[in-house]
Amino acid sequence: MYEEATQGNGQPQEGSSEVLLTVKSLSYSVQLERRVLDVLKDISFSVSDGQFVSIIGPSGAGKSTLLRIIAGLVRPTSGHVYYRDQEVTHPIKNISMMFQNYALLPWKTALENVEIALYSNEELSAREKREKALKALTAVGLSGFENAYPGELSGGMKQRVAIARALALEPEILLMDEPFSALDPLTADHLRNEVYSYVINPQSPIRSVIMVSHNVEEVIELSDKVVVLSPRPAHVVGEVNILLNRPRDKKSFEFYTYVDQVFALLT
Ligand SMILES: Nc1ncnc2c1ncn2[C@@H]1O[C@H](COP(=O)(O)OP(=O)(O)O)[C@@H](O)[C@H]1O
Ligand SMILES: [Mg+2]
Repeated sequence: MYEEATQGNGQPQEGSSEVLLTVKSLSYSVQLERRVLDVLKDISFSVSDGQFVSIIGPSGAGKSTLLRIIAGLVRPTSGHVYYRDQEVTHPIKNISMMFQNYALLPWKTALENVEIALYSNEELSAREKREKALKALTAVGLSGFENAYPGELSGGMKQRVAIARALALEPEILLMDEPFSALDPLTADHLRNEVYSYVINPQSPIRSVIMVSHNVEEVIELSDKVVVLSPRPAHVVGEVNILLNRPRDKKSFEFYTYVDQVFALLT
């Protein structure tokens, strides 16, 4: 199943398939009391159908800001984001964001926390919302935990609820901001193994993922392409296409060649 899922979608497809998202000459500055702070400077890259793209850069570089601009939550100072041919100027249905902290409501069950994502969708009946939420929880391996409260779930399970919430929205592009950074190393390792197959498989509506991270091994393990950012003001110092089959052997020579390549760009 895992093999099958990755054969269809997971292989690097640079150049061969449709571009879903384009970031074009994006800059972002904020006016502080006495001066202008440049956060992002002339950032361009694209995301093709089927691609898992990671954005890596040092802490404080502007990665979360970049992701919020792609989500349509923040307007850039200059430059553009396009979803297919449509400029993204506000949040749209086809792009959804999973936030750095899981943002689960402690007084709602796992199922209700997923349903919240569909709350304002007037095209769906209450029953359809419930069905979509249940399907998303099943997809992340949480059937049986529908009625559990966040306080009763482990960190990894909370993260899966957050993934289910994003899946329930059925976006084409999923944005993830440091999805593993709040987890203990063992749980993070385990979830990293699973997350690719949760989000990119023939049954999933999600076509492409953009993940922000500051962990080099993590991005080599998961990505088809890594976009490397400089310290603030962030600009693209390089792009690395990862041509490794999945699942990836983190101990292989080829894996470490990529780790070295990304580290060299970061330093
Ligand atoms: N609206 C804002 N006002 C002031 N500073 C901001 C604003 N937006 C972003 N920044 C600054 O931009 C920098 C990058 O932030 P962020 O995108 O969170 O970086 P990262 O996610 O890479 O750690 C930070 O130094 C932050 O203080
Ligand atoms: Mg951040």
